[in-house]
Amino acid sequence: MTEVGVGPHPEPWPDDPRLDPSLLAEGDSRNVVDRYRYWRREAVVADLDDRRHPFHIAIENWQHDFNIGAVVRNANAFLAAEVHIVGRRRWNRRGAMVTDRYQHIRHHEDVADLTAWGRAEQLPIIGIDNLPGSQVICDAELPRACVMLFGQEGPGLSEAARAVCVAVLHIPQFGSTRSINAGVASGIAMYEWVRRHAAERP
Ligand SMILES: C[S@@+](CC[C@H](N)C(=O)[O-])C[C@H]1O[C@@H](n2cnc3c(N)ncnc32)[C@H](O)[C@@H]1O
Repeated sequence: MTEVGVGPHPEPWPDDPRLDPSLLAEGDSRNVVDRYRYWRREAVVADLDDRRHPFHIAIENWQHDFNIGAVVRNANAFLAAEVHIVGRRRWNRRGAMVTDRYQHIRHHEDVADLTAWGRAEQLPIIGIDNLPGSQVICDAELPRACVMLFGQEGPGLSEAARAVCVAVLHIPQFGSTRSINAGVASGIAMYEWVRRHAAERP
């Protein structure tokens, strides 16, 4: 089987407070990019915090949606400021592949709570869903600082969520299925944000 990660660091170890002695001693097989090998979790989060993008991701969680793990993983990959879980506090972490350890995640009891937070932060809420009247994401305005709000499997964005969105954007589809899943949709929408606004080309 192919080994993932790196083995124990050869001695002498680098003198760097960001490095974790137990990872240096035992090796690092975590799901992190190579520049963070052997780094303490707190040091990775601090480094990400210095570079986070100003977009936020929110997803409704009324039925324990299994897509939330993928949403969190995508938010980590595209460096979202924060992920907001609206509704039930518990969510299925499996799809996150431990990326939630490096991602700020905030819970909101309901859409009103998310809206109050967004208003205080002066962040518009942009719904991402293929609802009647929604605009094509590629052509629509997508503010640099915003909250992109996703619905859940089945109903999509709730009535309460639709009511607070300043705009609803959809990803064009061409086949027979009504929709893609929220995890996939979140990745495409975040990529669209990054394509327009991220200066950095890694
Ligand atoms: C499985 S969809 C369900 C709702 C969908 N409106 C329907 O009619 O079946 C779950 C969530 O994924 C996202 N989503 C799925 N397909 C999308 C698309 N083509 N454009 C934008 N968002 C989409 C939305 O956030 C949506 O609320």
